[in-house]
Amino acid sequence: MKIIGSVIEDLAEEKRISITPDIVKKFSNLKFSVFLQKNYAEHIGIKDEEYKNNGANFYNSAKEVLEKSEIILKVNCPSNSEASLIKDKSILIGQFDSFENKDTINKLTKRNIKIFSLSLLPRITRAQSMDVLSSQANLAGYRAVIESVEEYDKAVPMMMTAAGTITPAKFLIIGAGVAGLQAIATAKRLGGIVSATDVRTAAKEQVESLGGKFLSVEGSENLETSGGYAKEAGEDFKKNQAKLLKDAVIKNDIIICTALIPGKKAPRILSEDMVNSMKPGSIIYDLAVNQGGNSAFSEADKIKLIKGVKIMGAKNILSNLASTASSLYAKNLFNFVYNLYDKKKEEIYIDKEDEIIKQTLIDKEL
Ligand code: NAI
Repeated sequence: MKIIGSVIEDLAEEKRISITPDIVKKFSNLKFSVFLQKNYAEHIGIKDEEYKNNGANFYNSAKEVLEKSEIILKVNCPSNSEASLIKDKSILIGQFDSFENKDTINKLTKRNIKIFSLSLLPRITRAQSMDVLSSQANLAGYRAVIESVEEYDKAVPMMMTAAGTITPAKFLIIGAGVAGLQAIATAKRLGGIVSATDVRTAAKEQVESLGGKFLSVEGSENLETSGGYAKEAGEDFKKNQAKLLKDAVIKNDIIICTALIPGKKAPRILSEDMVNSMKPGSIIYDLAVNQGGNSAFSEADKIKLIKGVKIMGAKNILSNLASTASSLYAKNLFNFVYNLYDKKKEEIYIDKEDEIIKQTLIDKEL
């Protein structure tokens, strides 16, 4: 298996790409041929020439690329028409959702196509360089702050001028995981005053190391699993958290919501009453909008105005940062393929004893 291909995603929904020109070079060094669809990354300012200079081959249509490739790299799950063009027994790698993409995945596995979903990567040290969830969530946290500030009609940093002093904006970050920590760092860099809360007690030290203030929920126990993820909070915790946030939301100008429990609907943390109590002109950015939202009123790709408070959240915030997100995503994918590559035999070898391969491989009906 030496032909790696990639086609243009549905650009209305996804502007990220799976292969960047520098990654073509890395694949070429391993003697892979890279097949791409014409104008593959033109929408993010990369010309076909740049790829060709590094050894890529171009075809006019997605059909030609898909029919010829033995390994296909994607961001999102292929459409039905794309899926029907993928060769039997080939390999498809991307960031797929076992629930949302179940039908397509089942059709492909029936044809002995091996699917690897990087959404299923174990969070172990060896997998860090392939961890698309982290590389992308980090950027999502950054971008959520940038987009919020764009909608906020006041300045963020403190400014002392002859005409008077401008007070700094106050940020509250709910959920201090990958996206939340980067949101804290970004808000601090812009000169905001930042506080954050989380159900995991380990988050306190991380928040403080970034210069944020940690808001601890009264009487809270540590709700962390052995894998480092959050456990669902009990009723007492929820009540105490609501008490804490009732006051905090009034004092803050921009709230970034990132609370997530893997595989579950997003916890509802900001109630309608809390939103109604906020200062007009405040912003809520709900990154968990695709999982049902941490905040009342949040709806994907809409800016809702409730009593002067703007509530927003993009379905795919990474498409708004497609160039940077792609450069990390493409590196993650390359590192994943490299792990599938037998360095002695110089070919792909699917070692089902390998924890990373075992966890990410979907080769049976779901
Ligand atoms: P993560 O698992 O690293 O962090 C989530 C944090 O929320 C954890 O620290 C967890 O302890 C905390 N948490 C869970 N329940 C909580 C509660 N009730 N109160 C306070 N904290 C709580 O997740 P990551 O990777 O940072 O992702 C965050 C969110 O951003 C997810 O919902 C993810 O789907 C979303 N996301 C959205 C994107 C978009 O385009 N809309 C892009 C990337 C990420």
